[in-house]
Amino acid sequence: MADKQKSWQHRLENTPDELAMNFVESLSYDRRLYKYDIQGSIAHCEMLEKQGLMSRSEREAVVKGLLEIQAEIEAGSFVFDVSQEDIHMAVEAALIEKTGDAGRKLHTGRSRNDQIATDMRLWMRDQISALLDKLAGLQTAFVELAEKYTEDVMPSYTHLQRAQPIVIAAYLLSFTEQFERDKGRLKDLAVRVNISPLGSGAAAGSTLPIDREITAEKLGFAGITQNSIDAVSDRDFCAEFAFACSMIMTHLSKLAEDFIIFSSTEFSFVKISDKYCTSSSMMPQKRNPDMLELIRGKAGNVFGSLSSLMMMLKAQPSTYNRDLQEEKIHIFNAADYAENCLEMAAAIVSNTQFRTDKIASGIDEGFLDATSLAEYLVKKGVPFRQAHGTVGTAVALCEKRGLKLAELELDEFKKLSDAVEEDVYESLTAANVAKAYTSPGAAGKAQSEERIRYWKEKLQG
Ligand code: ARG
Repeated sequence: MADKQKSWQHRLENTPDELAMNFVESLSYDRRLYKYDIQGSIAHCEMLEKQGLMSRSEREAVVKGLLEIQAEIEAGSFVFDVSQEDIHMAVEAALIEKTGDAGRKLHTGRSRNDQIATDMRLWMRDQISALLDKLAGLQTAFVELAEKYTEDVMPSYTHLQRAQPIVIAAYLLSFTEQFERDKGRLKDLAVRVNISPLGSGAAAGSTLPIDREITAEKLGFAGITQNSIDAVSDRDFCAEFAFACSMIMTHLSKLAEDFIIFSSTEFSFVKISDKYCTSSSMMPQKRNPDMLELIRGKAGNVFGSLSSLMMMLKAQPSTYNRDLQEEKIHIFNAADYAENCLEMAAAIVSNTQFRTDKIASGIDEGFLDATSLAEYLVKKGVPFRQAHGTVGTAVALCEKRGLKLAELELDEFKKLSDAVEEDVYESLTAANVAKAYTSPGAAGKAQSEERIRYWKEKLQG
């Protein structure tokens, strides 16, 4: 509103012209912090009253005014005026309009520099728990899908070449592990986020008898920051957050890539629900996995936010610089993209079917049982390196004759190694191998079932 003065207007001969005003403002995107800004202001003014810096009636007027502003914002009737620059000044100006001198006292012992640092920490706390919920939802989707496929065998791949047989459940559960690490990163970060910079002022604190512990406690922070210079400029938590989101996106992108490949005609391993495919405007036969491709593409966007943040932070002089205003664009972007993609991925996973008939029909191609054969020889006393060589020769022989290892006659095996006995066939075929894994964490049925039980209990709580 044109008649609302800016708080710093007295100092400058001219107010920014329209070009500058539109350039400097962050209200267009930091307005989403309004709830946290108001929450911080309420805690701050309650502290000011306790410290004798505001009267009881002033505090009452300020709290009432702030809550009214919050209601107006939520009702959509609050007029956001970019000439107020940012959410802090917009709320303060509206408060002064409502409460006069009481509102003019709110900014006592505080700067926008500690205010924005506080707002972002409050926002991030909530955002971390929203992401944790979404991650748990996706993990649950994987566990539920895995439960359906504890018996069915598929190939594992290294270098995208057939490696060893695994049960489909184990493949699916590999993602549950990845998303658990993502949760761990966010939980670690939540501890560093949860300290209060409020009261650090512009850069050096205040000469007024403010009590930072009171505001920290009111806002649910576990403690206060210990150096005002650091506190107003610390954005490590923003970079860490963007990295945590980037790792989430890396895992989602890997999942997307797998499912895109697996849904191709060449693989035909999975059927992604039609709900999450589109068709072509020209080719009538198409079922395109666009949602997955977008997840893969959106990963790039989040990495962009991480590198933007790193670039912004790297050469600023100490304490607050206006460059920091831009960090919000990137953490909001990273948070929104990650949250969105997690939700989409959970829906896709819940609606995906593995084409076990197709997978089974080709499962004995590609010598998935070769490593198991080498381990069979080891069990018969052959040193592994020698066994590896023998199986290599056997595979080359089979390939030449168009045979599978399980189709090689016993006397042919015996020609290759006299350690081979009749029981060799028990170690062959993908199905037999997948049943024979004994090591903890291996990709077999028993290990997968055990892990499913673990996850079900863990994800319930
Ligand atoms: N809108 C600013 C930001 O987001 C608030 C702090 C501005 N402080 C200042 N002294 N100009 O970083």
